[in-house]
Amino acid sequence: MSRVVHRSLNAVPPIAVRGQGMHIHLQDGRTILDGSGGAAVSCLGHGHQRVVEALSQQAATHAYAATTFFSSEPAEALADILLADAPGGLTHAYFVSSGSEGNEAALKLARQYFVEIGQPARTRFIARRQGYHGNTLGALSAGGNMMRRALYEPLLSDAFSLVSPCFSYRFQQAGETDETYVQRLADELEAEFQRLGPQNVIAFCAETVVGATAGCVTALPGYFPAMRRVCDRHGALLILDEVMCGMGRTGTMHAWEQEGVSPDIQVIAKGLGGGYQPIGGILISGRVMEALRTGSGGFMHGHTYQAHPVACAAALAVQQVIREEDLLSNVVAMGERLETALQERFGNHRHVGDIRGRGLFRALEFVAERGNKRPFSPEAKLNERIKEAAFARGLAVYPMGGTVDGRQGDHVIISPAYIATASEIDAIVARLGDAVDAALPV
Ligand SMILES: Cc1ncc(COP(=O)(O)O)c(C=O)c1O
Repeated sequence: MSRVVHRSLNAVPPIAVRGQGMHIHLQDGRTILDGSGGAAVSCLGHGHQRVVEALSQQAATHAYAATTFFSSEPAEALADILLADAPGGLTHAYFVSSGSEGNEAALKLARQYFVEIGQPARTRFIARRQGYHGNTLGALSAGGNMMRRALYEPLLSDAFSLVSPCFSYRFQQAGETDETYVQRLADELEAEFQRLGPQNVIAFCAETVVGATAGCVTALPGYFPAMRRVCDRHGALLILDEVMCGMGRTGTMHAWEQEGVSPDIQVIAKGLGGGYQPIGGILISGRVMEALRTGSGGFMHGHTYQAHPVACAAALAVQQVIREEDLLSNVVAMGERLETALQERFGNHRHVGDIRGRGLFRALEFVAERGNKRPFSPEAKLNERIKEAAFARGLAVYPMGGTVDGRQGDHVIISPAYIATASEIDAIVARLGDAVDAALPV
């Protein structure tokens, strides 16, 4: 009997004892090909010697430097490498221990910014349905993952309201062009600003590419610029959550680089430290930082483990390896190979409705009928069955249900490490193909 509270209280998951590159070895002797890096976390694969050495050395030299008194060399160096050349006008970093904590920090910083510049009436956030920003109560309030919200709904803050995501496979209407769909979404956001009173809105929050909730949903061209224009018109901030899609996962260091906008505050996590340590953070625009610096002079927030030196040392090594080995070129090349392989294997599959994503961040959405996009019944737990069938074939992929509305729909995410080789990509798709065939009703 395990005393650990696992995701299911009725089963103990297999015990992972060693990770090397793209593989995870289990206590029972099996080896699993890691096709998703957990939840798109392990961007360098497992057991990367340079990262292990960097974090071990930091742990041995100075494990904990309380930020009430000290900074640390790895925290300073990590901010320097992330913000070299001030990407998109982002000039400062604040490090925490997870994506949820990053989103909490983003929300609080945005609120403080408006108090500092003399607009304390701004108390409202607009976020999106079928998006996710974390499981702490503030981040959950901002999220539109109905499955994760439902139980806690009475505890969630009413400072947040939700508008539609840009999810063309599901919600672009028949006969609607990309331009008119984007305009409809811009009109909806504008209407929500008007409903709340534009002078009351702090920010619009969105995942640049939607992650687990809807499965690698990219926005249509022009969507983010249109949303940015609505925010700018009303003096509100744009907060982009790149916890899952950022740090190179889509082929550029920041997913927003492919969208023609940059955020005022960006949330980062998973690929920042690649799973070697728990670390997340926010990147902050010069404008927001300057308001605080010349105002109260401090960010009214904090955590005991913020900017933890060992976490920052691990993340620094991860970021150095990504840059020095030009791994984003591999993300682009292997991402194209993955897309082609998925199209070849599933393009004509009668239960695969959509193959989408960017870089090494791809998803399959499953449907009972392609013609009308009808999802399988949630009771069938199709995504779980595919996960299990894949695992039985020595492959880990990231499944999720509720793709359409938090209840209906199934998808799996394929998000291997940036070091993946062509043969590993092919093996992932081959095993996934067998797993899908085995899990689906004939
Ligand atoms: C887009 C996004 N934001 C926030 C989070 C929350 O991050 P964490 O689980 O590290 O708290 C996640 C986690 O999956 C995520 O995908």
